[in-house]
Amino acid sequence: MIPSDIIARKRNGKELKSNDLSWFITKYLRGDISDAQMSALLMAIYFNGMTEKELLILVDEMVHSGQVVKFEKSNFFIADKHSTGGIGDKTSIILAPIMAAAGIRIPMIAGRGLEYTGGTIDKLEAIPGINVTPSLDKFRSWVENIGCAIISQSKNICPADNKIYALRNQTATVPSIPIICSSIMSKKIAEGIMGLVMDIKVGNGAFMKTKNDALELSILIKKVAISYGIKIDIIYSDMNQPLGRYAGLGCEITEAIDCLKGNGPQDLINNTFELCSCLLIQAGKAKDKQESKEIFNTIIETGKAFEFFQKMIALQNGCLKQFENNIIPKYEKIIRSTKNGTIIYMDTEKIGWSLIELGCGKKEKLERLDNTAGIEFFVKPGDTIKKGSPIYRAFNANSKKLDSASELLLNTIKVHR
Ligand code: URA
Repeated sequence: MIPSDIIARKRNGKELKSNDLSWFITKYLRGDISDAQMSALLMAIYFNGMTEKELLILVDEMVHSGQVVKFEKSNFFIADKHSTGGIGDKTSIILAPIMAAAGIRIPMIAGRGLEYTGGTIDKLEAIPGINVTPSLDKFRSWVENIGCAIISQSKNICPADNKIYALRNQTATVPSIPIICSSIMSKKIAEGIMGLVMDIKVGNGAFMKTKNDALELSILIKKVAISYGIKIDIIYSDMNQPLGRYAGLGCEITEAIDCLKGNGPQDLINNTFELCSCLLIQAGKAKDKQESKEIFNTIIETGKAFEFFQKMIALQNGCLKQFENNIIPKYEKIIRSTKNGTIIYMDTEKIGWSLIELGCGKKEKLERLDNTAGIEFFVKPGDTIKKGSPIYRAFNANSKKLDSASELLLNTIKVHR
């Protein structure tokens, strides 16, 4: 086989032959196919899409590029949640310990930041010492021990997604619906789960800008889930504004902890609850939303949610004692309104790019992330503001980057007088 023939076939809108994708991915992981060739194939898929047959082959190849977790036979329901990505979305970090406290096992494989969206793994790495790339045996033992763990794709688990994910981030090939589907579902299938709840973010800060895109993705996700015998629920949530009061790295862990202790912002708690409720019902722990609300509230009010979070972080070698000192920003800037009126629009994608500028994501492959960086949101769409009142507080460890991010942030809201 010749790599450029396969790329040309996809470029010309033809269906790939059944072993083309397997061969291409195997060779790419071995280093026999270059990043340039893989990028060209991704771009051809971006423009021409994939048939259902191609998608199922791609997912299977990605799952079996590494090991698949197999849990001991037990009465536990093993499940997970995944989001398509947004700004301020830290629900995974809140949901995993709450579900573990409810008796559902959550072996979560999460991702890093993609383009302007934040990544669960980058946020968790603001906790000193945390291990997000354990061996498969260690991962399984963590989940069997306390009920949850959150790790990254790696050389052992979903290595194809690990390598292609980083490449997509550098080559403007992220927002392809079949590639997003294969990236998400390969990680979820490799976890050995029985149930999944998907949070498809829709809006100007999401990869799915419209409900139609979201529906297209949900059809693919359902097809893949069903073909692997996984129970699936999908919720669509609004990403025309950031989720919660903070977006960034360490500050999102702090906000997640607030939620686990019952003090989080309402939009974040509501989003987390909707997702938890689907899993509680799938697992047979609750018969309806009312019953799941009682379980969810009790776990938070009795301190169990935070207790399970502490256990999860300790098991993954993270040190919460050192965490707070590790995320104190050196610089901060308040961005103020230049008008009186009501906020009618927030450019959430641009807020995401401001976060990258602050140091929460990588513009270049070898760039280091700034755990202290983030934005606090004082207002959301629908709020009335006065000229001079604060809109955002941006913070980080680099004053030049803070200045350029603040410039970007100035043009992220529309105000109606
Ligand atoms: N989350 C993933 O894991 N992959 C994507 O492509 C998008 C969101």
